[in-house]
Amino acid sequence: MEYILAPSILAADFTKLGEEIRLTEENGAAWLHFDVMDGMFVPSISFGMPVLKSIRHATGQFMDAHLMVQDPIRYVEAFQEAGADGVTVHLEACPDVKAALDKIHACGMKAGLSICPETPAEEVEGYLDDVEMILIMCVHPGFGGQKFIPESLEKIRAVRQMVREKGLDLDIQVDGGVYLTNVREVLDAGANVIVAGSAVFNGDPQENTKKFMEIFKSY
Ligand code: DX5
Ligand code: ZN
Repeated sequence: MEYILAPSILAADFTKLGEEIRLTEENGAAWLHFDVMDGMFVPSISFGMPVLKSIRHATGQFMDAHLMVQDPIRYVEAFQEAGADGVTVHLEACPDVKAALDKIHACGMKAGLSICPETPAEEVEGYLDDVEMILIMCVHPGFGGQKFIPESLEKIRAVRQMVREKGLDLDIQVDGGVYLTNVREVLDAGANVIVAGSAVFNGDPQENTKKFMEIFKSY
C-alpha cells in the first residue's frame, strides 16, 4: 500500500502559497488537498476554480479537490477544467451519489466519496465499486485546526475491513485533526492517504512534511 501525504492548503500562508506548496512537494508530499467550501453544505467559504487554476502550474502534485459543496455534480466539470486530478464529494451533499461519481469518472478524474463524522461507515458500502477512494472526515467539515474525533478510528477500521472483504484496492483518506502525534494510530487503523493542514503549514512546512514522510517510511 502506498502511504501519501496530502497537505491541505486551507492552512497555508496565502501571501506565499506557491513557495509553501513547493516546500511540501520537494519534501515528499505527492498530493495537494484543496478544500472547497460553499457556505451552504459547511458554514464557511474557502476558495474555488480560479485559485486551483493558478496553482495547477506551480506543482506536479496530484490535485485532490475536496468539495464540501451542496449538490457538487454542478461543479465537477469546472474543477476538471481548472486542473483537478481527483474530486471527492460528500455522500450527504449529493441528491444522486452515483450520478456524481459517474460524472467525475466521465471527466477523467479519480472519484472519492466522503462521509461526515455523524454518517455511519456502512453508508459507503454500496459505492465501493464506484470510487477510487473513501474519505473519512475526522472533524466536522468546515474548518481547519479542529480536534480529531477519536471514534473516527473505529470507522477507519470498519471501512478498511469492507474494502478488504470485497478484495478492492481503494485508498482510504482521512481528513481533520491529524498531527504527527496521532498519525500512527490513523495509519494503524488502515488509512493510507493523510490530509494535514495545521500539522504541515503551522510552523515550518518543510520540516513538518519531512517528519510525516519519516513516519510513513516505517510502514
Ligand atoms: C475541514 C477540511 C480539512 C481541514 C484539515 O473541513 O476538510 O481538510 O482543512 O485541517 P487540519 O489538518 O488543520 O485539521
Ligand atoms: Zn478536506
